[in-house]
Amino acid sequence: MMERTLSIIKPDAVKKNVIGKIVDRFESQGIRIVAMKKLQLSLEEAKAFYAVHKERPFYESLTQFMTSGPVVVMVLEGEGVIAKNRAIMGATNPAQADPGTIRADFASNVEQNAVHGSDAPETAAQEIAFFFSGRQLIG
Ligand code: CMP
Repeated sequence: MMERTLSIIKPDAVKKNVIGKIVDRFESQGIRIVAMKKLQLSLEEAKAFYAVHKERPFYESLTQFMTSGPVVVMVLEGEGVIAKNRAIMGATNPAQADPGTIRADFASNVEQNAVHGSDAPETAAQEIAFFFSGRQLIG
């Protein structure tokens, strides 16, 4: 099924100057980028984006990290791209991520883990709408 998903290149990966290397992981797997922008999240925006985690002990630290520098947000499109993106990213904790995944290669730790990807069609739709209007998605 043709799908779209939200991808974020997090501040740790932007600081490591590997935006292009991460984008290449998607494009070389046949995924198309239908929207992309670099931005600085405010604390309010980071808290709203990760509201689902607000009871977790890492919420404060996660939102501080996500506002520690610019991020790149992208909408990826492709057949089964939600699961495909998660496979390309690897496990949340880079210590458990398969070799050759983005997190195995570029993440620092379970929090500073280089990329975010939506986990299901409903969250993908919500997360895409959080950053982009319909007319900013160019298929
Ligand atoms: P992400 O896929 O963006 O979804 C939630 C984020 O919370 C996750 O990536 C990590 O950046 C962070 N996270 C998840 N688990 C932990 C943890 N145990 N400690 C710190 N941060 C975490």
